[in-house]
Amino acid sequence: MTGRESRIAVVGTGYVGLTTGACLAALGHHVTCSDVDRCKIGLLSRGEVPLREPDLPRLVRRGLARGRLRFTVDTRDAVDGAGVVFLCLPTPMASGGEADLAAVREVVADVRASLPGGCALVTKSTVPVGTAARLKELVGRPDVALVSNPEFLREGSAVRDFLHPDRVVVGSADRAAADRVAALYAPLHAPVVRTDAASAELVKYAANAFLAAKLSYVNAVAELCEAEGADIGAVTAALGRDPGVGRSFLRPGPGWGGSCLPKDTRALLRAAEAAGTGFPVLRAAIEANRRQQRRVVDRVAEACGGALRGHRVGLLGLAFKAGTDDLRDSPALAVAAGLAARGADVVACDPALRGDERGIGESVAFVDDAYRAAKGARALVLLTEWPQFRELDWCRVAELLEGAVVVDTRNHLDPDVLRRAGLVRRGIGC
Ligand code: UGA
Repeated sequence: MTGRESRIAVVGTGYVGLTTGACLAALGHHVTCSDVDRCKIGLLSRGEVPLREPDLPRLVRRGLARGRLRFTVDTRDAVDGAGVVFLCLPTPMASGGEADLAAVREVVADVRASLPGGCALVTKSTVPVGTAARLKELVGRPDVALVSNPEFLREGSAVRDFLHPDRVVVGSADRAAADRVAALYAPLHAPVVRTDAASAELVKYAANAFLAAKLSYVNAVAELCEAEGADIGAVTAALGRDPGVGRSFLRPGPGWGGSCLPKDTRALLRAAEAAGTGFPVLRAAIEANRRQQRRVVDRVAEACGGALRGHRVGLLGLAFKAGTDDLRDSPALAVAAGLAARGADVVACDPALRGDERGIGESVAFVDDAYRAAKGARALVLLTEWPQFRELDWCRVAELLEGAVVVDTRNHLDPDVLRRAGLVRRGIGC
């Protein structure tokens, strides 16, 4: 690879962009990351990472120290001389459920004239099928190739996922540009799937929507387990051994959430409806997820003796999953809102949060530890599977609670420990 080809620009320093930039620098490439957020660029240039992502601070600092990583607010400067330009920009959900591409379009319009001839412009953010083709028109330059190279990074394990991918998907009509993008990942020795751009774009949506539908399916089996007296843990342990099913994404919970699965399933459904094919399975998976959150509220109401009004309910965890401080589309927030709407007095804690984050809402009182959340509560509800909740002094929790029921929506707690503490544990599907 020549010097110019190994120079990379990454536009957008969210968790996808920053992980991409820092990991590519760790693989030996020279990477410039840009972002409109001056404050963030200032922090990153000093090696301070304003994101909770394991290993990322170490990689950023190492990249800076070795001169392989730099940060700028000037996107035109970032793309100058780059052989590959990654777009890692937000694609939030618009009011109709479709992906909003305003940020991507704005950046492309801004840098189109500054892109070096022969460079590959790569979409890494999740973008609707056909975006590469539309951006190709917007760029309006035959010497710039569009490539789709979707990310499959999970929050909380983004660095590990980047450096140990199951597959690298590279889609483009331009073979040379796709070769150049695929070559960036060569040190990872990962399987590379080469496609056209539209297929690569669809892979990402199809993957996230599949995971969401799988979880809705598991949550429905869990409900059936409750009705029939079966144990979801035993069912999924055997089910997951079928290679056609696979072991991952089989843990039942309060519903799936986060910044990706809900947004991408809705966007895919919307796209399918616009294309005239519809996607009834996906529609059902989304509705089942809402139902799952309502079901958790009902279980808590049962634990409080039927009605929630006037009862204090303690919540353990608000983040959409353990290992993050992300509240976006967190099922815990939907459950908290459902409890408050039915008159419960909701008190929550989360080890990754301070309590002043946007999204928590006024109907939830935030406290800084689990014992304070438990104090005087008629029921305690575990919503995020933080390991430290397993290690609580459950005898102390039992003394603090007014009631005796713990609703464990992640099947995360040790039933024997709770039983010995005199508590009644109600899991999901068991
Ligand atoms: C998800 C996908 O897993 C990644 O492959 C994808 O790259 C990413 O979205 C993205 O589009 O960028 P993430 O949103 O970080 O990653 O979260 P997941 O770990 O997938 O969890 C999603 C939701 O499913 C969470 O609410 C989680 O608690 C729930 N979940 C997951 C379960 O309830 N049970 C499980 O067994 C697994």
